[in-house]
Amino acid sequence: MVGVDASAEMLAVAGEQVDLGGVAGLVDLRHGDLRDAPVEGEFPLVTIPFRTLLHMETDRDRRAALATVHRLLAPDGRFVFDVFSPSDEDVSDTHGRWLEPRAGDLGARRLDLATRTLILRVRGETGDAEMSLAWLSVPEWREHLAAAGFAVESLYGWFDRTPWEGGEDSVWACRRNS
Ligand SMILES: C[S@@+](CC[C@H](N)C(=O)[O-])C[C@H]1O[C@@H](n2cnc3c(N)ncnc32)[C@H](O)[C@@H]1O
Repeated sequence: MVGVDASAEMLAVAGEQVDLGGVAGLVDLRHGDLRDAPVEGEFPLVTIPFRTLLHMETDRDRRAALATVHRLLAPDGRFVFDVFSPSDEDVSDTHGRWLEPRAGDLGARRLDLATRTLILRVRGETGDAEMSLAWLSVPEWREHLAAAGFAVESLYGWFDRTPWEGGEDSVWACRRNS
């Protein structure tokens, strides 16, 4: 398995887990950008888990990320990723104001409808950090995937494979169609 992340700190955490799991010989961790991943070859599975694609804030970045996946995916391989888009209720509750964290949240959050981003503020020992996640709707993701040469094989509402029925989370399994 090859793992790519743009953060050296996250790679260090992953490296600790790899050692704890006793799988060091099976995992190759690389520092790089998923829009142009420092990886060659063809893989039966390419996954961009836990909403990471939402770090792509422009269509250009999304296209670059999907083109990289297409380059690395074996002809009969699968591309699996998950994303979210906020519900209308979440939008009306949260737009423009900070909401304090609920159980399980990373930190306070605010939605910006102009840029379609969720901004998260996380309090750490050395100060506050903010990160933003740029969402798209399910039909918009379908368009990007089709343009990048992917067919959507399954669309789930969660990792337990319940079908997607319009909820905020979506988990996608795709194949190459070109
Ligand atoms: C939700 S975390 C997922 C972490 C890890 N891949 C996992 O599966 O547990 C999102 C990760 O995306 C990384 N990231 C953000 N932008 C990136 C980029 N352009 N290229 C590569 N990694 C990126 C962040 O450093 C962060 O570790």
